[in-house]
Amino acid sequence: MKVITPITLGAVIFGAASAALAKPAPQTDSPSTKDYGDSPEDLNEVNIIGDRANNRRNAWWNRGDVALFEEYLATGERRIDGLTEQEIVRTAVELAEQAQRDTNGTARRRSFHAKGQACLKGTLQVEDLSGSDKAELRFGVFSTMRSYDVWGRFSSGSGQIQSDAVNDPRGFAVKVMNVQGSPVDPDFVDPLPTDGEGFMHQDFLGTNSPVFPTRNAKTFIDFHAATLEGGLTMVKFLANVKKDGPRTADILRKWIDPNVGSLADLTYGSGGAFQMGERAGKYWLKACDGNRKAVKPDNPGEDYLTEELSTRLNSGSREVCMQLEVQIQRHPKLHPIEDASVLWKDIPANVEVDRFYRNPELRPAESKKRSGAFVKVATIRFPLEGNQDFRSDARRAQCEGMFFNTWHSTAAHRPLGNINRVRRDVYKASFLYRDKP
Ligand code: HEM
Repeated sequence: MKVITPITLGAVIFGAASAALAKPAPQTDSPSTKDYGDSPEDLNEVNIIGDRANNRRNAWWNRGDVALFEEYLATGERRIDGLTEQEIVRTAVELAEQAQRDTNGTARRRSFHAKGQACLKGTLQVEDLSGSDKAELRFGVFSTMRSYDVWGRFSSGSGQIQSDAVNDPRGFAVKVMNVQGSPVDPDFVDPLPTDGEGFMHQDFLGTNSPVFPTRNAKTFIDFHAATLEGGLTMVKFLANVKKDGPRTADILRKWIDPNVGSLADLTYGSGGAFQMGERAGKYWLKACDGNRKAVKPDNPGEDYLTEELSTRLNSGSREVCMQLEVQIQRHPKLHPIEDASVLWKDIPANVEVDRFYRNPELRPAESKKRSGAFVKVATIRFPLEGNQDFRSDARRAQCEGMFFNTWHSTAAHRPLGNINRVRRDVYKASFLYRDKP
């Protein structure tokens, strides 16, 4: 990989993608999900993951053993576009460390989402999910209608600290404190202290797209390498994805949304899939129904997104409000776990669904069987009280030291699919490598 200077690096992370993908985008009132993955090719795509040879071996939907709620690449079959997942992890860790090293002697930060616009303290209130029609939503954190303390960190995607005015993917990470449950992996327990034995923290992470831009972890590391090298490498990457995964270029363009007025206006999709109790699904963290929309200023300043959150906290309802919604997987191919770039839509009426349930008791009511709808399970509120100091050095330092990772999870919310599997070790490496306050 070619050596790059910090200045080039700052300019090219996501910036190159932004320039290459930029099209004048109309200002929209709400995030649209309709235009992702609508082409017939998306529905008929057989090579959902990886190279052709690999897919022939893993033509899982033709083997007759495909079921809902399961990762389908068995151990030993985990090759993506010719690389094993371990090889992908190694490259991803190298790229993450390269991004952190190339900061010209300044602090080594998160290799993605380095700039936190706001780190806020709040509560998560679980909705009333009683009633048999909501049974599938009562799992893990959402099992009982109660309130938890949370931390939330809004961020921009680049591994560099740059002006908010630079178009960039945006992120939102939530840490639900002191959840009861067994950790999905004892090696991935959040270092932040808990209230005592039997408690742990559960993280939810999203970026501002209902789907992840790349089909799999291999394409994502190619994208990361292209953002680090810029120039021709990015052009080559974009040419490849146009051929190979036509959705990616489109999703990337929308990810780098040039019209963000507020980080509290966006919808942050989980990208990958997660266990949801006995089922599987995706979640998103979105602006609360009724949130006031903000318009991007004509001359956005360096920290205009932090300013906006500050104004929001100090006016109107004096809070930042986001809601957590989940979507349950209804079909193993049309709602794939291993391809994070497919939008899970309603299942067409002529597609059979019942046969995919290994456990028929998990079949939902007729009315829900084909539904791609997200359903609200919790509301997250960050009130002014407790957050007046969110721009202080002490608060910033506290949050720089925090570690958000989807593998900080109870078994009920286990991360699924190749992108989540790869994230497990890459996030840990990035956390260990970065400077702690
Ligand atoms: C293979 C795919 C991915 C890789 C290699 C990757 C890598 C990383 C790394 C290295 C970090 C910094 C971790 C740290 O130092 O604490 C990070 C942060 C983050 N990632 Fe990812 N990521 C991937 C996919 C995703 C997906 C699917 C999402 C959600 C849709 C996501 C959302 C975030 C967010 C929100 C943060 C910031 C967390 C914080 O505020 O501390 N990433 N990612």
